[in-house]
Amino acid sequence: MTAPSSHPTTRPSAHAVCPGSFDPPTLGHLDVIGRAAGLFEQVTVAVLINPAKEGMFALDERLELLAATTADWPNVVIDSFQGLLVDYCRDHGINAIIKGLRAVSDFDYELQMAQMNSGLTGVDTLFMPTSPEFSFISSSLVKQVAGYGGEVSAYLPPVVHDALRRKL
Ligand code: PNS
Repeated sequence: MTAPSSHPTTRPSAHAVCPGSFDPPTLGHLDVIGRAAGLFEQVTVAVLINPAKEGMFALDERLELLAATTADWPNVVIDSFQGLLVDYCRDHGINAIIKGLRAVSDFDYELQMAQMNSGLTGVDTLFMPTSPEFSFISSSLVKQVAGYGGEVSAYLPPVVHDALRRKL
């Protein structure tokens, strides 16, 4: 099959990035990261360094929690980045961004970002539907529920749950 002339033929990407805040990583994040690890030769989990938003977990804590919870996947590496995601992708030879979609409500903003990122450097975004059992989980909701004493162990890897309990 011949590629349309408007779509230059490039080498298939074997390196994808799962970007995010991961404050903290949840089972929903790990669901997407693990499935991406089954599809790509290498997956980089890239934690956004956001000086404007401190978060509950420091950057080092997030990196440690992600390293601990992805240790069983040898093709997953953990890193952090500052600035534009597309610049990070270009500098690291990544041309696929993986985003988990929990519900239709995620779609509008994610589509906007995917199209902006594609417009900036041509990097493609692949949307991965979150497994149904994780579709309502978010880091912020988990923190809120835990902050009021609710039980959130079903939504977090044990090492993250322990870390969250220590914070509270
Ligand atoms: O877990 P989050 O907070 O939903 O992740 C959002 C993230 C980090 C993927 C997004 O904010 C991002 O890519 N930030 C980097 C800055 C950037 O590239 N902005 C332009 C997006 S079109």
